[in-house]
Amino acid sequence: MTPRTTDWWRHAAIYQVYPRSFADGNGDGIGDLTGVRNRLDYLKELGIEAIWFSPWYLTPMADAGYDVTDFRQIDPRFGTLADADALIGEAHERGIRIIVDVIPNHVSHEHEWFLKALAATHGSPERDLFWFRDGRGENGELPPNEWQSIFGGPAWTRLPDGQWYLHLFAPEQPDLNWRNPLVHSEYEDILRFWFDRGVDGIRVDSAAMCGKDPELPDFDHSGLPDPHPYVDLDINHDIYRGWRAVADSYPDPRALIGEVWLADPARFARYLRADELHAAFNFDFLGCAWDASALRTVIDQTLSVHATVAAPSTWVLSNHDVTRHVTRYGRPDTSTAAGIRQYNPIVDEDLGRRRARAAALLTLSLPGAVYIYQGEELGLPEVEDIPADRRDDPIYHRTGGKDPGRDGCRVPLPWSGTKAPYGFGPDDAARPWLPQPAAWAGLSVAAQEPDPASMLNLYRAALALRAERQDLGDGPIQWLPAPEGVLAYRRGTDFTCLVNLSGTPVALPGDHAVLLASHPLDGNQLPNDTSVWLRTV
Ligand code: GLC
Repeated sequence: MTPRTTDWWRHAAIYQVYPRSFADGNGDGIGDLTGVRNRLDYLKELGIEAIWFSPWYLTPMADAGYDVTDFRQIDPRFGTLADADALIGEAHERGIRIIVDVIPNHVSHEHEWFLKALAATHGSPERDLFWFRDGRGENGELPPNEWQSIFGGPAWTRLPDGQWYLHLFAPEQPDLNWRNPLVHSEYEDILRFWFDRGVDGIRVDSAAMCGKDPELPDFDHSGLPDPHPYVDLDINHDIYRGWRAVADSYPDPRALIGEVWLADPARFARYLRADELHAAFNFDFLGCAWDASALRTVIDQTLSVHATVAAPSTWVLSNHDVTRHVTRYGRPDTSTAAGIRQYNPIVDEDLGRRRARAAALLTLSLPGAVYIYQGEELGLPEVEDIPADRRDDPIYHRTGGKDPGRDGCRVPLPWSGTKAPYGFGPDDAARPWLPQPAAWAGLSVAAQEPDPASMLNLYRAALALRAERQDLGDGPIQWLPAPEGVLAYRRGTDFTCLVNLSGTPVALPGDHAVLLASHPLDGNQLPNDTSVWLRTV
């Protein structure tokens, strides 16, 4: 059994596995649970403490598994429930905790509930689990309102019987009606299903969007109305209070981690009150420009907002929904690092990778928990040139390619070898579900392992130090005086981190020993776009 401390989520380094693209165990070109089991020692050696799995449930894959047919079954492409049980056990044996993704806003259009709702009549209890409405116009030919899908196009689809149903994402993802108590009891049961199997935490998908104003009022999509008809409704808090009670009913409390995209930090913090979610992803930090004063502002704001509810901060640079940060940081105009998904006509990848190394030492030494998206530890860039006919993301297709979508950050990982599929599966003949670039040979795990200067070895060294030092992770931070463009802070009594974004080298303090640097130092000078961890001597 994993030794559990009650508050692991406050300080853990958590690795996000996107199962489709991590490792392929059966040679069909799609990552799976056997692939992950085969690579658990890699993750152990990397030094992470928990794995968050993007959805692994039965799904038609209209949105890469975020469209769930049955939360109690594993998709056959990924394996079986027995594989999941084995994986959870083998991870625990290695002291690695498991977080699974639960999606409360919607299910798949193939979910039993939706199929029953389609077969039922207008106004039936089956339809009340979703948002079915008559249309406007003389013959109901216009959608009930003008809400737009987050993936592009209208948020309503009409059925042959004339009614429309709401989907804030793809039409294959009908939104649930959280005003119906059955929805609450079903999800609490799903949570128990996974907690009973030993899962340690839940990542809550689109956590601030579940509640809808039942009047379904129209609003101006160019701004953010207040109140909003489906973002941040008070009913959301009832949902998570119920979930927290389930989590706390276990002898070792399980953690709930929310995907909460909200502009207002005070509203964000309400999700982290003592009887709601344990933590939430920090998207302000993820979207911040590579600029010292912008970063300082976001860090300070993050810490003070979390302090109001005594919740741990989280630090995230990348995930499966945004352009990989090597590419974001490689844009010549650093302020555009904030543009989390856009085409990147000019990217200086070496510069991006150098900044990504500096950013790693920054995030890994800030107070709280840290999330590492698979491939980040290899310094993978966004893959920009995926042919249109290989693209899978509904965002790309529903926006007619105006939004590049998320395929570029979901390309299967390179493990070994000099050409695709880079050891992704057992069989080099299998074609991975997305093409891997020819330039990735030098980025594979096998290529990076023997190179002391590789990104992989930087992450390993940083995570090992983080695990060793009790003063990293959760706890206080003290800012130190520093030249303009330099972030400098103390953790504990003798740990200092300096991040130089000033554009010019700066001198290191004299009374310190270097623990780790993101780039070779120049004597006692800290070069630009470099971070260093120091110990006071
Ligand atoms: C979240 C997920 C994203 C998914 C969406 C709809 O934002 O991270 O990948 O497409 O929710 O479930």
